[in-house]
Amino acid sequence: MKITIHRPDKLNALNASVLQGLQEALHDLHNDASMRGCIITGAGEKAFVAGADISTFVKADRNIGKELAELGQQLFFSIERSPKPIIAAVNGYALGGGCELALACHFRIASDNARFGQPEVNLGIIPGYGGSQRLTRLIGKGRALEWMMTGDSYDAQEAWRIGLVNHVCPASELQTFAETKMRTIISKSTTALAQIIAATNASEVGVEEGMKTEAACFGTAFASDDMLEGTTAFLEKRKPQFK
Ligand code: COA
Repeated sequence: MKITIHRPDKLNALNASVLQGLQEALHDLHNDASMRGCIITGAGEKAFVAGADISTFVKADRNIGKELAELGQQLFFSIERSPKPIIAAVNGYALGGGCELALACHFRIASDNARFGQPEVNLGIIPGYGGSQRLTRLIGKGRALEWMMTGDSYDAQEAWRIGLVNHVCPASELQTFAETKMRTIISKSTTALAQIIAATNASEVGVEEGMKTEAACFGTAFASDDMLEGTTAFLEKRKPQFK
């Protein structure tokens, strides 16, 4: 099974309807015994997912922010905790919520034009869909803090060097490479695969507490004047003036 995030005119940014579609597709994956695994990718040649939809952010409020983060976290937990293997085929920008979506998958394969990053700080907010937890666990605290504090983005080669992606391949070969990898995986025992995922996730004890803290911090950032300035500046295509 393949889930394609399809909103190419907005670089596949995650709005409510995209998230709803993703949730429904995951529901099908989990409930249909004939589906043994899933590849998540983005439509078009430019983006996997360029983040949560910034245009939905402008109504700043602590509770809205916290609830938004919790909603995304639950959805991404259902990917990470899926008993069936889920691979991200990252075909371009994987920024903010897009990087977090890739991080929630069991592992990542990138095209050579992929770019990763957590640029939320440029909007006066923070990662809210698990990035502060999963990025830290995957690439280490120092690197994760640098990524989140600078908001810089990194190419596929760098993502491979630090272990964020397992493989980099030419863009034209990405889907075939991911499908071949998935075929190898789903030829194995379904029970063993589910137990490998459960046991490996169990190595990350304390993640629930970390996610709660992340959602609360996201709410705090969401209620700030800087968030209003950062998101408005993006939509008006100008540089933000943070106080
Ligand atoms: N939310 C909403 N819309 C987004 C978006 C997002 N996260 N990312 C891109 N878009 C939209 C742009 O507003 C633009 O829409 P328009 O054509 O109606 O003006 C369209 O997608 C194409 O993006 P554009 O910025 O013109 O492409 P680019 O090649 O110049 O730049 C990026 C690509 C990814 C560098 C740039 O779009 C970007 O910085 N996006 C935001 C990334 C981000 O901050 N993500 C975290 C959000 S929490």
